Amino acid sequence: MRILSGIQPSGGLHLGNYFGMMQKMISYQERGELFCFIVNLHALTSVFEGEALRRNTVEAAMDFLALGLDPERSYFWVQSDVPEHIELCWYLANFTPVGLLQRAHSYKDKIAKGLPANAGLFVYPVLMAADILLFQSDVVPVGRDQKQHVEMTRDIAIRFNNTYGEIFNIPDVEIDEDVAVVPGVDGRKMSKSYGNTIGIFEDEETTRKKVMGIVTDSAPVEAPKDPDACALFGLFKLFAPEDAVTAMAQRYRAGGLRYVDVKKELFGLIWEFFTPYREKRAALAADPAEVIHILDAGAEKTRAEAAKTISKVREATGIRFR
Ligand code: ADP
Ligand code: TRP
Repeated sequence: MRILSGIQPSGGLHLGNYFGMMQKMISYQERGELFCFIVNLHALTSVFEGEALRRNTVEAAMDFLALGLDPERSYFWVQSDVPEHIELCWYLANFTPVGLLQRAHSYKDKIAKGLPANAGLFVYPVLMAADILLFQSDVVPVGRDQKQHVEMTRDIAIRFNNTYGEIFNIPDVEIDEDVAVVPGVDGRKMSKSYGNTIGIFEDEETTRKKVMGIVTDSAPVEAPKDPDACALFGLFKLFAPEDAVTAMAQRYRAGGLRYVDVKKELFGLIWEFFTPYREKRAALAADPAEVIHILDAGAEKTRAEAAKTISKVREATGIRFR
């Protein structure tokens, strides 16, 4: 089974990205053939600063590798290193009704948020369809916000196959309904666009400050509190063992709980959780040439796979004429 998903290098990766996506992706190495990539071409729709995109791309690669992604076992590459993504995007664009793109929620949301309504943003789902179909993926695990894009991919693939025969495997979307939304320090969904994130590999002082700054209500110490309405508890749950979570929920309900104590415990848990990964991350950061080497090798391995689909498509469409 082929499992494919990608993440945009549009900012430092945070706990929401880790628990919502990266942890699961990395575990898929055990379940099938994993295709995991850094989606820098898509990020061009929202990052307009070259230096930032360059830095975020390499850092996202270091993060994945530090967290356990094994480039020998899986396919791991940067999207722009495999130009077949863009070539396939063009072929698919001819099987993508404009009306389909106009109905895309994410396009409408982004325009509403003030991103420029340019063709890149409009064609975004076609490039994503190319990403998925290029590798004949079976399963695409994504967050709920990306579900429609995978459905559009299926639609485009079916149209193409109807014209040229069974070229593409029709992928299934996998939405993990159990993945809770990770709360940010202000209680809203953790997201770089809200500036409320805790980074996976931020330094100790930054992490401590952010944890100590998590917004809580102003109920007096002795008042019973509702753990499920508390961002602090929402984060605690991700890191603490089950019995500690149950005990903590009881402390909330019993009254007498001081948020500052929970924050200190949470900081300790977060710091400990990422300690082994942090060491690996530091080793990678100290040797960026090795990271580039891993990405070069990943691109080469991935291009060989992409070439198989592209060859079929060139043949079927008549683009190959020799
Ligand atoms: P951001 O909201 O910071 O821009 P992205 O939209 O780039 O993050 O998300 C990349 C991946 O991380 C997606 O798969 C998304 O579902 C997951 N993710 C991001 N934030 C959260 C969160 N707060 N809780 C759960 N998953 C998240
Ligand atoms: N659009 C996805 C996001 O913003 C990233 C992405 C691009 C992707 N191509 C993909 C995800 C292919 C899964 C499969 O999160």
